[in-house]
Amino acid sequence: MIQKPKGTYDVYGEKGKQILYIEKLFKCLMSKYNYEYFKTPIFEASELFHRGVGETSDIVSKETYDFKDRGDRNMTLRPEGTAGIVRSYIENKLYGNGGLTKAWYYGSMYRYERPQSGRFREFNQFGVEAFGSNDPALDAEIISIPVTLYKMLGLKGIKVNINTLGDNESRNNYRNALIEHFRPHLDELCEDCKNRFEKNPLRLLDCKQDKDLEVMKTAPKIIDYLNEESRKHFELVQEYLTQMNIDYKVNPGVVRGLDYYTHTVFEVEADIEGFGSQNVLCGGGRYNNLVETLGGPSVPGVGFAFGLERLLAALEAEKINLEDEEQIDFYIIPVDETVKAYGMNVLNLLRINGFNGDIDYLNRSIKANFKTVDRLNPKYIIIIGEDEVKNKLVTIKNNSTKEEVKIKIDELIDYLDNQD
Ligand code: HAM
Repeated sequence: MIQKPKGTYDVYGEKGKQILYIEKLFKCLMSKYNYEYFKTPIFEASELFHRGVGETSDIVSKETYDFKDRGDRNMTLRPEGTAGIVRSYIENKLYGNGGLTKAWYYGSMYRYERPQSGRFREFNQFGVEAFGSNDPALDAEIISIPVTLYKMLGLKGIKVNINTLGDNESRNNYRNALIEHFRPHLDELCEDCKNRFEKNPLRLLDCKQDKDLEVMKTAPKIIDYLNEESRKHFELVQEYLTQMNIDYKVNPGVVRGLDYYTHTVFEVEADIEGFGSQNVLCGGGRYNNLVETLGGPSVPGVGFAFGLERLLAALEAEKINLEDEEQIDFYIIPVDETVKAYGMNVLNLLRINGFNGDIDYLNRSIKANFKTVDRLNPKYIIIIGEDEVKNKLVTIKNNSTKEEVKIKIDELIDYLDNQD
């Protein structure tokens, strides 16, 4: 038997309903926040991610799904959404009007990681990116999006961790300080960290393996290396978050796994008992150099993304049920196959007039069909028999009052429109 690829999963039943619920909620939230929907390709030129996400990130150096297409071009399945949205922003010259572009997107992402609970090779992200403003208020807005979403869903165990990486100057100063600090202790570090030391010393700070080493605890803090402008930016972000009643903690360990960040970075983690080690529900931050790095003008950007799977796991861990049971309007029961065609006529009439429902496609007995009715719980049950066909009628039963009437098919829509 052919099985699904490792690190992927199928969606059906309850899970499908939960996903549609989150999609609906996020779409609704995005229109409230005034973001526009973007959709970019699932595969892009490999170079986009090499230049965008960064050669030194684990994502690009170890985890991409790369392939050559039949025209011998190097392609990569997107490991994240930001690089593609930035490419689209540049390619479509959306910076042209000099204003703000606020984009939201969702879709599948691909990373060749070791699958475990909360970590898949194909997973789904919902994300936003805002271009054209360096206002720290926009950083605060971005951080407020997942916080609002989690609040709307009733999720309680969440922690917002923020940090700053400063601008280029601050970051370089900090980088040098880290190099000086860690150089004499290189042989104490794990192999990965030795590598990071060479390529991107900032990443030493989020090593899970070495985090308890003394040399980690005494590492210099970015806060002490920020220039005036970067310090001001970060202070304002905090002030806005406080004004927005968003609880957060400044956590110098948040350095993010992608290379494009400047200034504010943040992660929201699930603080729920028994939740697995993959507890980062979402992450993001500012990336003021990325548009330029990818060939566009110097336009600042800021955004975040959350993983659908981890959110569903957090909801499950807090035993939150997503109730979006939209009651269907009708269920049609033709008494036998001779009246099916008339039933199909009624079915289509109802659907084109905006009612949702179904008909029995299994040609079962009336008794069996009433079991289906119990399961589907439609507002109306429509029964089609010989008399209905002959006299162009329908028998319609209100499933809650149990009231049953026979009416002319021509009057069916008016009848339903006038019910409450
Ligand atoms: P990221 O932290 O790599 O950031 O991913 C964001 C979220 O995607 C994570 O917090 C997690 O919930 C989910 N995620 C990542 N990898 C996996 C996986 N293998 N399985 C399941 N879920 C996963 C980014 O991707 C940035 N593009 C976010 C961003 C947008 N920054 C600025 N704008």
